[in-house]
Amino acid sequence: MQDLEEYCDHALALLDSYSWMHDFRVTDLLVKKVLSSDDFLELINNTTQSDTFLARCQDGSRFLLAAEIKLLPNGCHEKTYPWKYMSPKKIHEVENLLALVKDISQERPLQCIVDIGSGLGYIDHALSATSAVSVLGLECDAVKKSIKFRFCHAPALAFHRVMALSLHSCGDLSSTILKAFVEVEEIDTLLLVPCCYHHMTVHGFPLSSLLRKRRAQLSLYSLRLGAQESPRQWAARDRRLQSARVVFRAVAQLYLQQNGYELKKKRRHGVRDDAMGDFTAYIDAFLAHHELIGADKRTVDEHKTLLLALYHQQEPQLKLVEPFTRLQCHLQPVIESLILVDRFAFLQEQGFTPRILKTTTVVRQASGLTTLECLRSQELLESLPSYSGFVIDDEPDLQLAEVFPRLFVGLQSGGGVFVHCNAGISRAPSVVIAYIMKKRGWSYRQAYDHVFKIRPGIWPNDGFVKQLKEYEKTLKAARSEDVCERKDLLKKQGVTHILCVAASIPWKDKDGYTFVRKEVPMADLPETDLLANLDECFKFIEEGLGRGGGVYVHCMAGISRAPSVVIGFLMKKNQWSYDQAYHHVSNIRVIMPNDGFIRQLVRYEKILTKVTK
Ligand SMILES: C[S@@+](CC[C@H](N)C(=O)[O-])C[C@H]1O[C@@H](n2cnc3c(N)ncnc32)[C@H](O)[C@@H]1O
Repeated sequence: MQDLEEYCDHALALLDSYSWMHDFRVTDLLVKKVLSSDDFLELINNTTQSDTFLARCQDGSRFLLAAEIKLLPNGCHEKTYPWKYMSPKKIHEVENLLALVKDISQERPLQCIVDIGSGLGYIDHALSATSAVSVLGLECDAVKKSIKFRFCHAPALAFHRVMALSLHSCGDLSSTILKAFVEVEEIDTLLLVPCCYHHMTVHGFPLSSLLRKRRAQLSLYSLRLGAQESPRQWAARDRRLQSARVVFRAVAQLYLQQNGYELKKKRRHGVRDDAMGDFTAYIDAFLAHHELIGADKRTVDEHKTLLLALYHQQEPQLKLVEPFTRLQCHLQPVIESLILVDRFAFLQEQGFTPRILKTTTVVRQASGLTTLECLRSQELLESLPSYSGFVIDDEPDLQLAEVFPRLFVGLQSGGGVFVHCNAGISRAPSVVIAYIMKKRGWSYRQAYDHVFKIRPGIWPNDGFVKQLKEYEKTLKAARSEDVCERKDLLKKQGVTHILCVAASIPWKDKDGYTFVRKEVPMADLPETDLLANLDECFKFIEEGLGRGGGVYVHCMAGISRAPSVVIGFLMKKNQWSYDQAYHHVSNIRVIMPNDGFIRQLVRYEKILTKVTK
């Protein structure tokens, strides 16, 4: 508890010193002159100050960072409930929550689960389809009023060993549930996944004496920041788009404030991202979505001209918006930690033993890490498992084939590989499908079904599906193993000798065709000693060519082993560099030598050069 007290004092002092950074509406960024304030300019121009800020934020996020990470397994459900009515995001959430419930119920056997704020009841359906416990969903929306626990209204349910759970328990619902948990004896376990802190009222925060004693308060704007993305998620976003959203709206707000206009929404939705290309497009959308009410009646064109002039006038400082939001997001985990500490302390004060788990399966985003590194806050990520990754965007026209070789290198290196993207729906499954297609020689459909069985929410984007189907054709064409079945074709091509560099592919001379055949079996692994096998292969190739015949070198897919041998042969025979030989072969067929073979062939180039000299 003493540690919690120290932590709270630190976090509250930090939030107090930097209130100018979080305790205001972001649209008022220009109105409040935050970007030209001494506080902000000193922070970005003075490295010691920015380092101190980041270090203090890290310390203030300690509580959240220290939380146990629960990388929930996927595909642990029984798939007997209607996935098809759920969005992939919801499937992902439900699936992970089920796994967590299963884990908990092994420690503490349950008889009944009460899902509070059950929404459309997806979890309830899933739970009742996959477990023997009774499930009751409570949802107030239909009657548009808050309901309390009505256990007595469900007499068929056994209210012993009850788990109360709530997914996306927004605003004050979390504190209502926490208080009810303390009061209702029958609830044995509580599983709470909170969200939307900014919808909380004073009833929601603070709950604990720890924070009440300190008169802790968080404004709506600070709570909103607390509910937003973490620095890690922020860094993975499209930063141009993020900045455009803030900048354009802030300029519009300045215009409203300077001219005494009030804003009235004409449409339900705000300005969409496709209007964020430039300020002119934004103004068009902004004026179409809103009515500007004020004494000064102006036409839409007049508003446009004035808004544009204001934008140009503000332009010099607008480039500071990104550094500002980048720094500001470091306060997000501090605010969220404080809210969680409050709930944690509240339960402890009532004699319970709470646990805080991070339940995200997104270990790190596939992109955007550089910004975090720039801000020297890499340490913020230290509680996460080790990671190696590179950027792939979930764009239909992204050429998967260009990234396959890099992906396969990682996947071939022997260990377990966790392939992830954001939601695990399009990018990661597409890569895994491609890998399985290559590795097992499966069709796209077979590989897709296999992955779908394990993870039903997958949804490769249209472009990826098209590319994977193309990839199937490429692989099929490349399967040298199949060519061996076409002995007539081999003869027609003048092949007399066949060198097989894969392990034990069955062979029969048939249809009256005979060939001289040799096997030099190698595993398609980076650690296989390719160079040690080359002499034997070359001797056989030379022998075939020397007799005026053709030599067919094959393995399984004809992508890694056979091309590597042929590349080596061409390097030796023609005194070519690795690059020359590689390009020669890759112009003829699709090849992907494994990482280890590439390294060995590059080394072979040096060996050959030495020998020639
Ligand atoms: C963010 S939604 C989450 C719905 C669902 N758990 C899910 O994850 O899809 C929160 C739900 O809680 C409901 N809710 C809020 N306060 C409630 C209360 N006091 N009692 C019952 N339901 C409540 C809301 O109507 C809303 O449907």
